[in-house]
Amino acid sequence: MAFFSFLFGLLLNALLVLFIVLLVAFLGYCLYIKYTHIKYDHIPGPPRDSFLLGHSPTFLKIMRDGGVVHDKFLEWAEIYGPVYRVNGLHFVMVTVTCPEATKEVLMSPKHPKDKFTYKKLFCLFGQRFLGNGLVTARDHEMWYKQRRIMDPAFSSLYLRGLMGTFNERAEKLMERLSEIADRKMEANMLNLVNCVTLDVINKVAFGVELDLLNTTSPFPKAIETCLKGMMYYVRDSFFEFKPKNRPFVKEVREACRLLRSTGAKWVNERKTAMQNGEEVPKDILTQIIKTAAAEENMTEEDEEFMLDNFVTFFIAGQETTANQLAFCIRELTRHPDILEKLQKEVEEVIGMKQEISYDDLGKLVYLSQVLKETLRLYSTAPGTSRELTEEITVDGIRIPAGTSVMFNSYVCGRMEKFFRDPLKFDPDRFHPDAPKPYYCYYPFVLGPRSCLGQNFAQMEAKVVMAKLIQRFSWELVPGQSFDIQDTGTLRPKSGVVCSVRHRKDEI
Ligand code: HEM
Repeated sequence: MAFFSFLFGLLLNALLVLFIVLLVAFLGYCLYIKYTHIKYDHIPGPPRDSFLLGHSPTFLKIMRDGGVVHDKFLEWAEIYGPVYRVNGLHFVMVTVTCPEATKEVLMSPKHPKDKFTYKKLFCLFGQRFLGNGLVTARDHEMWYKQRRIMDPAFSSLYLRGLMGTFNERAEKLMERLSEIADRKMEANMLNLVNCVTLDVINKVAFGVELDLLNTTSPFPKAIETCLKGMMYYVRDSFFEFKPKNRPFVKEVREACRLLRSTGAKWVNERKTAMQNGEEVPKDILTQIIKTAAAEENMTEEDEEFMLDNFVTFFIAGQETTANQLAFCIRELTRHPDILEKLQKEVEEVIGMKQEISYDDLGKLVYLSQVLKETLRLYSTAPGTSRELTEEITVDGIRIPAGTSVMFNSYVCGRMEKFFRDPLKFDPDRFHPDAPKPYYCYYPFVLGPRSCLGQNFAQMEAKVVMAKLIQRFSWELVPGQSFDIQDTGTLRPKSGVVCSVRHRKDEI
């Protein structure tokens, strides 16, 4: 009996000690939060929802309601000016819309990508995801080495050589749309363009033919799941610990594993071909293999590193372009005047021919304007963030070294201050003679960490749009909304379901 009461006393003491330790840790954490408030509260910002959680409840509510968090950033930018602060637990992010500061920070290599966002993307819920690949590498040397090796696969000479694939895959889409038009069916444009961009990246980057317009594949869903998982993982620190989210978290891990295991298979097949002395294309996959160490002494980390870049290109090289195309197709349904102008341009430059050349693309000036305007209103990858290595002062407000600073092209693109009547879709803003937007339009980011695939994406988008405009007219079926879905990247909320007609039947 005495033994049990001794044991019970011991347990009580242990619990008391544990309670005191937790209490001290909690108080210490609260003090640390207070310190971050003192450090940053000279920067204007909206009132916090709570001392501990900062503004997180506002964002979580927007996400629960299916809203776009960037609209809140926009609202706050209008209220609090070119520099404002957002808190979440002990973390502070400063949003900057001032063009001069955007130039100063983004154009310089000295401010790395911020660790809060990019370190998190190394893994998703414990499963390695983008790792140290090109988008997420924070260390300048590590990033620069990769970028140098990748650059040749994006040179204009190499991109010219991709015109055949862009044409061929876009032509498959036209065949599919032709069937849909003949049978008077409805076309889910978002799904269709997703298949095209995924087919293209697989063919030109990895030398693999998927033909997704005619076969089913788990990849589009896996990409969507990873992106959704990425959004929750970055924006909600407690997401994975809530029991109701467990099935989704498992789905995200499996989706990441599927992409990485596919990468491992394709990398190994390519390495075997290289070892057997076979001629292999100088495509992105070959470059990815080159970014790792020499083949003989490849470590497990080198192998993982190659897969980081495989997943990076699999995702970065596809989704954003498909969403841009879908937004553009959707926007044209409510601007018949713009569509008519595009039809005239396409008739003049391409006429009836099927094969679009690289030189034709340069002549499709108005189409370029329309695609740029699409990304102003619908910046499919809305922003980026940097960690300041030194203190800067913006608009008289001091931002300390070490701060995470966010730059948001969606927000700037929709500000009256930068674009008059910002919600109006007006491609003439990007007329060759119009003044260039000054550091307030950057859908591909600016500076050394800007998008490597910008020209690739816009060539591909132009080929698809030019063929679509050449052959078809389309209308949204009733019930389709013009809303945006925020899955980290932005996409049309409804699938841009359209009825499609052959233009030749209309003339
Ligand atoms: C409309 C289409 C696209 C948009 C709007 C877009 C946008 C962006 C943005 C905003 C970034 C910076 C990301 C960040 O700072 O976190 C980025 C980086 C990147 N994008 Fe794109 N992208 C597009 C298409 C593509 C394509 C087609 C590829 C590849 C074929 C690609 C490959 C990359 C890579 C490799 C990076 C990392 C560059 C670096 O840090 O060196 N992107 N893109």
